[in-house]
Amino acid sequence: MKEQLTAIADKIKDLDPVAALRYFAEAYKGKIVFSTSFGWEDQVITHMIFANDIPIDVFTLETGRLFPETYYVWNRTLEIYKKPILAYHPQAELLQDMVNAKGPNSFYESVENRKQCCYIRKLEPLKRALGGNQLWVTGIRAEQSLNRHDMSNLEWDEQNQMVKFHPIFFWSLDEVKEFIKKNNIVYNTLHDKGFPSIGCAPCTRAVREGEDFRAGRWWWEDQSKKECGLHATT
Ligand code: ADX
Ligand code: SF4
Repeated sequence: MKEQLTAIADKIKDLDPVAALRYFAEAYKGKIVFSTSFGWEDQVITHMIFANDIPIDVFTLETGRLFPETYYVWNRTLEIYKKPILAYHPQAELLQDMVNAKGPNSFYESVENRKQCCYIRKLEPLKRALGGNQLWVTGIRAEQSLNRHDMSNLEWDEQNQMVKFHPIFFWSLDEVKEFIKKNNIVYNTLHDKGFPSIGCAPCTRAVREGEDFRAGRWWWEDQSKKECGLHATT
């Protein structure tokens, strides 16, 4: 499959995001999933999938530490589209052992602890969510960080041995906002309060004018170590 990437890229190069999603839903029937964190990029893609009845399963990693605003968007999205969004929770035993050994906020104490928490709350559930699938759709945009600039809208994910597709990879933030406004899409109100990127509540803060989109994620850590491992190149 890895070898076919150039051929696939060629097939979708003139397609808009909805047409590309339709193409992949057919080409990878029953083996394609979209992950949402309910950020505005993800709400755009969720709308594209649900409003157009594209057969792609949608899932979220329910870390247990999301913002109340995120749960609100999640619930409204279920009410509006009346389509399922599968939640993947951490394994109870793993979570319980970590919290009992280190307390509920161990992630502030060391990068090692933070990575352990991200593994238990995100990476292990992600493995289950992606299992058996061949194509993973995400809301990543090139503009989000320097690392993401160097990526492509279609890539081979070595870690998960599958194709990864980012339908709005080349969109600017203004395009995302315009699409949301035009289609009256429900979005996380934290975006209007200085949160361009929204993850778990204890690990996300607002950014200041001129700061990087992702500066508010794990803000207490050294820039170079800031990644949770969901996306190998981030
Ligand atoms: S992260 O690596 O820093 O956490 P980011 O928040 O930029 O990722 O989101 C990029 C993409 O990763 C989202 O568009 C979404 O597809 C996926 N993603 C991030 N967090 C989650 C989550 N909690 N559940 C499901 N997908 C997620
Ligand atoms: Fe844990 Fe923070 Fe990672 Fe969420 S972002 S899984 S709370 S360390």
